[in-house]
Amino acid sequence: MQQYETWEEFYKVYRNKAVENETDLYFQVGKTINKKPIEKEIFDLINENIIKDLDLQPTDILVELCCGNGLCTYEFKDKVQQIMATDFAAHLIEAANKFKLAPNITYTLGSALDFLNEFTSKWGVVPNKYLMNHSIPHFTPADLTDILKAIIGISGNKFTFLITGAPNVEKLGNFYNTEERWQKYKDNLATGNFINDGMGRWWNGAEFVEVCEALNLDCKVYDQDPRESNYRIDILISGRG
Ligand SMILES: C[S@@+](CC[C@H](N)C(=O)[O-])C[C@H]1O[C@@H](n2cnc3c(N)ncnc32)[C@H](O)[C@@H]1O
Repeated sequence: MQQYETWEEFYKVYRNKAVENETDLYFQVGKTINKKPIEKEIFDLINENIIKDLDLQPTDILVELCCGNGLCTYEFKDKVQQIMATDFAAHLIEAANKFKLAPNITYTLGSALDFLNEFTSKWGVVPNKYLMNHSIPHFTPADLTDILKAIIGISGNKFTFLITGAPNVEKLGNFYNTEERWQKYKDNLATGNFINDGMGRWWNGAEFVEVCEALNLDCKVYDQDPRESNYRIDILISGRG
C-alpha cells in the first residue's frame, strides 16, 4: 500500500469515488465484506448497540466525531433531539449532506479536535452524549486525552462518550490469522507505519482506563458482540457527575 504522512491524506483517497446509491455509501466507509455491504442484520446490530450503550433519549444532544458519510449517524435521528456530526474527509461530508441529511442533523467538515475546541462559541448548546464510531484506530492515547479534555471543557462532568470498535491488541491473532498477514503487521510495526494498511493502531483496553483515570472519568471496556467482531472492543466513558 502507498505510504501516507497523515490519516487526512489517507482518507482523501481511500475509497473516494462518486456515490450513486446506498451500496456506494457502505463502500466509502469500509462497511463491506467481499465487496458487498455488510448484512442488514449486522448494520442494525451496530446501530442498536450504540443506541443502547449510549442510552439515547429524545432530549439528548449528540456529537458524533469522525462520522464518515453519515451512514450510521442517520439511524440516530429519531432517537435524539439534535446531532452535530463532523469528519475531516470532504467527499464523505459531501455524501452525508446529499444522502443522509435530516432536519436535526448537521454535518461539519473538519478535524475532530478543532470541532470540539470551537464548539461552544459556534453552537451555544451543551451536548450530553458523544460518539466516535469505528474511528479510534486513527488516534493515540495522547490524542484521546486532548479529545476528552475538550469534551470536559464543553460538557463538564455531565456527559457519556461511546467509542466503538477499537482493535484489541490482546486479540491480534483473531485478525492476523495467517503467517503472511502476521508478518505484514510486524513489518508495519517495525517500520513505524502507523497507517498499518488502513487498519491503524491496535489498542490495549488498559490504555483507555489509564487515560480516563488521569482525567477522573469512569471508563468501561467490553468486547463487541461476536456477530460484529471477534477482535474489537467498545469503550464507554462518562463524567463523575
Ligand atoms: C472507518 S471510517 C468510519 C466512519 C463512520 N464513523 C462509520 O462508522 O461509518 C473513519 C473516519 O474517521 C475520519 N477521521 C479520522 N481521523 C479524523 C480526525 N482527526 N478528525 C475528523 N475525522 C477523522 C475519517 O475521515 C473517516 O471518515
